[in-house]
Formats: sequence, C-alpha cells, structure tokens
Amino acid sequence: MITSEITQLHHTGFEKSGIQIFIKRDDLLAGACQGNKFRKLKYHVKRAEELRKVRLLSFGGAFSNHLYALAYYGHVNGWKTTGIIRGEIDDRNPTIKDLKRWNMELISVSRSVYRLRHKTTFQEKWQQLYPDAYMIPEGGSQVTGMQGIRELPLEIYDQTTQDFAIWVCPFATGATAAGIASNLRAGSRLWACSVLKGLDHKSMLQSFGLPPMVMESITMLEAHLGGFARRNPHVESFIIDFYQQHGIILDPVYTGKMMLALLQKLRTEEFSNPQNILVIHTGGVQGNAGYNFRFNTSLPTRHF
Ligand SMILES: Cc1ncc(COP(=O)(O)O)c(C=O)c1O
Repeated sequence: MITSEITQLHHTGFEKSGIQIFIKRDDLLAGACQGNKFRKLKYHVKRAEELRKVRLLSFGGAFSNHLYALAYYGHVNGWKTTGIIRGEIDDRNPTIKDLKRWNMELISVSRSVYRLRHKTTFQEKWQQLYPDAYMIPEGGSQVTGMQGIRELPLEIYDQTTQDFAIWVCPFATGATAAGIASNLRAGSRLWACSVLKGLDHKSMLQSFGLPPMVMESITMLEAHLGGFARRNPHVESFIIDFYQQHGIILDPVYTGKMMLALLQKLRTEEFSNPQNILVIHTGGVQGNAGYNFRFNTSLPTRHF
C-alpha cells in the first residue's frame, strides 16, 4: 500500500483555541497520478484487468486532472490510453503536452457532442470503435471510483493514532466526499467544500447509496467563489501566500477553494472542546501550469 504523509498546518487564520489542523498529502501519491485520481482509478483498473482489456479510455476537458492521471498511470503501467477531449486540442496547453508525452491518444469532440457523454448510445459508439478498451466515466467517479476513496480513512486509521473529529475535502461529483464519509468513525464529521454552483448535493450523495447516518455526518460548505474553474484573483493570491508559508502547492479549482472555505468556516464556528481537523489534499496540482497558461498568472507549479 502506498501511503502519503500527514503533517500539521500552522497557518495564519487557522489559530483557534483547542483546534489543531492537519493535512493529508495525497498530492504526493504516485507521481502525476496523484490525489483522489490515484484512489479513484484503482478499482476501474482492477475491473479492466478482469475483463482482459488492454486500453483505458476516458473523457475530460483539455485541462482535466483525471485524464492527466490516467495518461501517466497508463504510461507507467503499460496500458494503452485514449482521451476523448471536450473541444479543441491546443498543443501549447501544458496538460495536453504531457498527455502526448505519455502517449495518450487524443480525440477532440465538439462541446455539443461531448454533452452526450452520459448517454448509452454515445458510450456504445466508443466501445464499438475500441473493443479492446475499458471505459472509465468522466472524472473516474461513480461507485467504482468511490470504492477506492473508501480506503482513505482506513489507511489513515492505520497510519496514525490521532483522532480527527472533522475531515475536510473538495466536492464536485461527490465521489470523494461519499467515499470518505462512508468510512468515518462514529461521531466524526465531514465538511465537503462544493466548488460548483447550484448543485443538488443531497441527491448527488444519495446516488452513491449512503445510509442516512452517513448522510447526516456531512456538512456542505459553499466554496465555488463565483463558479467552477472561473478565474479568481483572491484564490490566486491565497495559493501563492500558502505556498510561501508551507511549501505546499494548492490548485485554483479544488484545494485552494477548499482551504478558503475552511478558513471562512473557522471564523464563525464555535467549538465546545479541543478537536483535530484533517484536510485532504486531493491533488490537482498539474492544473496550475494550465491556469498560468490560460491567464498569464504565476501560481506555483510542480513538474512531473
Ligand atoms: C484535485 C481534485 N480534487 C477534488 C475533486 C472533486 O472530487 P469529486 O468529483 O469526487 O467530488 C476533483 C475532481 O473531480 C479533483 O480533480
């Protein structure tokens, strides 16, 4: 089992009496196949092996963390990979450059065609074109993706004797939040930071089959700050400052916004007894190079 480290965070703004904050560094897992993507891929790959497939095919935007992790994973572990990309493929985009470096076959489809990706007919078409492929849903999510995330709390219980009353993660499809919440010890809570606007979080979480007690352990925090993947100078300066303080790279779409939502929540939350909080760094760091490319910013980057 590969285990990422847990370290304590002494961040300006996190000081609150009796509260200690820790961070689980899943951004350091398995090279470019990092964060929740590493965990989400595990059972998809198992299934692909059982079906004796030789190719992993999936879908995503031109800056997709999921396709990035998949291409790297395939490259290192001897899988052919195909990425169906929403919209145009720009060879100057740093994400695209790495997908190509890792020999992912890239196919561009128009945004209107991409919108059909959840339809059976769309999926059947790609399966007919690639009979050797195992198809992974966008983001590596759904129940199979969540299965890998469920192992995260168990890994942490083995790793440390610290007890964490509150866990914090970003929320997009909800697979990460559902996986974590489903294996928390009784009494612990999950603060799930939603980076998309106007979602029905409850039904998204219910789609993972969570029992009512688990559903009740989740508190949603609003973290979209204007909308998914939108440019936000406040998030940018926070990421730069956070990197200067801790040497930890956050990304502007998920983990930077999660950390800001946590800061906001800590300002108003009253704690009646001392508690440990564990923040999950779900990766996404590759996206910083793409963000800098799009917006001419200077977020910290890591090269894989
Ligand atoms: C880095 C990162 N963190 C968090 C998330 C959100 O996870 P989920 O879709 O499981 O809610 C994603 C992608 O979806 C991601 O790429």
